[in-house]
Amino acid sequence: MNIPTKKFINGFELPVYGLGTWQMGGRWEADYSNDEIEKIAIQTAIDKGIIHIDTAESYGDGHSEELIGEVLKSNDRKKLFISSKVSANNQGYDELIKSCNDSLKRLGTDYIDLYMLHRYPLPGTPIEETMRAMNYLVSKGKVRNIGVCNMSINRLKEVQKHTEYPIVCNQVHYSLVCREIVDKGVLEYCQDNGIAIVAWGPLQKGELEESDMLKELAGKYNKTQYQIAINWLISQKNVVTIPKTTHTEHLDENLGALGWTLEEGDIKILTEKFPGQKLVSERVPLDYEADVEV
Ligand SMILES: NC(=O)c1ccc[n+]([C@@H]2O[C@H](COP(=O)([O-])OP(=O)(O)OC[C@H]3O[C@@H](n4cnc5c(N)ncnc54)[C@H](OP(=O)(O)O)[C@@H]3O)[C@@H](O)[C@H]2O)c1
Repeated sequence: MNIPTKKFINGFELPVYGLGTWQMGGRWEADYSNDEIEKIAIQTAIDKGIIHIDTAESYGDGHSEELIGEVLKSNDRKKLFISSKVSANNQGYDELIKSCNDSLKRLGTDYIDLYMLHRYPLPGTPIEETMRAMNYLVSKGKVRNIGVCNMSINRLKEVQKHTEYPIVCNQVHYSLVCREIVDKGVLEYCQDNGIAIVAWGPLQKGELEESDMLKELAGKYNKTQYQIAINWLISQKNVVTIPKTTHTEHLDENLGALGWTLEEGDIKILTEKFPGQKLVSERVPLDYEADVEV
């Protein structure tokens, strides 16, 4: 399947759908028990046309990156787009460069397409220092693009002050339920400045299934509720998404969200009237300090 892309600042381009890998290879510690299933899931995603694979040094304490590295060995690296993240506690100049080198080693590649601050640096590490390291990594060709995660407008502006290269994305919790980035103006700021919103947690596991509004729209379009939820996200300016799945049937279902569009009126209803909207992420709110995902 040819996954459509969106273009952002300086011609930066991302497919509307990529693969998330949080909990592949473990949560905060490495878990090797599902390695084979997870490598197959990553390979299957690639075979089905997914090129953007999202990971982080903290996922499974690096094991998520190792799994991707294993899969990369039998694929054409140049055709893939790998994004990873440096944790908040590794954002001093030397630590950040070491983190990136360690990620490169685990991924078995000599560049990362998109390297993001997983959080804003911890107090005590000036953002100037963090961004000096990020700038250095781009200048050395180890990182192709710089992005951030979970940042409010104020922090995003602070980061932008110290980067020599454009901040191409803000990876944030955004779904039919979680509207924090709309409420805090982050979506609009990113849309106005050519910054990609990479929506994580798009499926809001356990909360979308019971929605009568989604059930009704699923019936109208002959789609599933998750397909409606994903289509609603990617129908919005500058928004792309990275659902995680290790199941081929789930992947097929999710990819069925592409290639068609909800009518304007239905997008408006979902945007304005979807019940149970939350204005703060229950998992990682904007500007959250610690490296914790739930
Ligand atoms: N920057 C950050 O701070 C941050 C925070 C959180 C996440 N992320 C990134 O964003 C990615 C996506 O977020 P997420 O993984 O938290 O949430 P998600 O993609 O919304 O949900 C993943 C969950 O949904 C299940 N699932 C996927 N497709 C399904 C389907 N069609 N039917 C039923 N269940 C389905 C998956 O299980 P199966 O595997 O069993 O299908 C998994 O349990 C992460 O993997 C990670 O790469 C970034």
